[in-house]
Amino acid sequence: MIIAITGTPGTGKTSVAKKLVREGYIVLDLNRIACENDFLLGRDEKRKSNIVDIDKLNLFIKKNYSNFDIVFVEGHLSHLLRCVDKLIVLRLEPSQLEKYLKKKRWNEKKIKENLESEILDIVLCESVEIHSKDNIAELNVTNKSVDEIVSIIIDLVTDGFKNLQKYKIGNIDWSEEILKDF
Ligand SMILES: Nc1ncnc2c1ncn2[C@@H]1O[C@H](COP(=O)(O)OP(=O)(O)O)[C@@H](O)[C@H]1O
Ligand SMILES: [Mg+2]
Repeated sequence: MIIAITGTPGTGKTSVAKKLVREGYIVLDLNRIACENDFLLGRDEKRKSNIVDIDKLNLFIKKNYSNFDIVFVEGHLSHLLRCVDKLIVLRLEPSQLEKYLKKKRWNEKKIKENLESEILDIVLCESVEIHSKDNIAELNVTNKSVDEIVSIIIDLVTDGFKNLQKYKIGNIDWSEEILKDF
């Protein structure tokens, strides 16, 4: 089973991934695989980020990891991979997201762009365009420690995602935050 951990940059994907690795799980870092295998279409100089060839990445992961019992793929593009079986979308209240993004020392423009993306549910919308709602868990990580988040994820996984109902999509709404001036 391939499980994507996705979410707006800053929601805590990498922190969660590191803890999952410490717990003995295999977690793939998408950006790293894309760079190592040259699955790149170019570079977005404005955003100082690579433009990843999702189709190549999808084929590579499908070919090499489909028969794994449990493997996580982490990254803000992981929901775009058609080969993933389940998705966990990390959702974070914008004011807390702003704090986390400031910790990353990102510039104001990039912070604003990502806050807007979180408020407008962009990652979730992109996820439902590609995957069945029944395979997506929306996890509100606001005020949760990394350990708490990982514990929820491990429970979901060990239970074979039978408890997905508790995290079904559509219950999180940050839209009122758009009125605030970040
Ligand atoms: N649950 C959390 N509790 C406290 N700090 C967190 C939590 N999740 C993330 N952070 C902090 O927020 C920042 C961004 O987290 P990171 O894991 O890099 O996010 P992402 O990989 O989604 O971009 C980091 O400085 C991290 O330490
Ligand atoms: Mg990260």
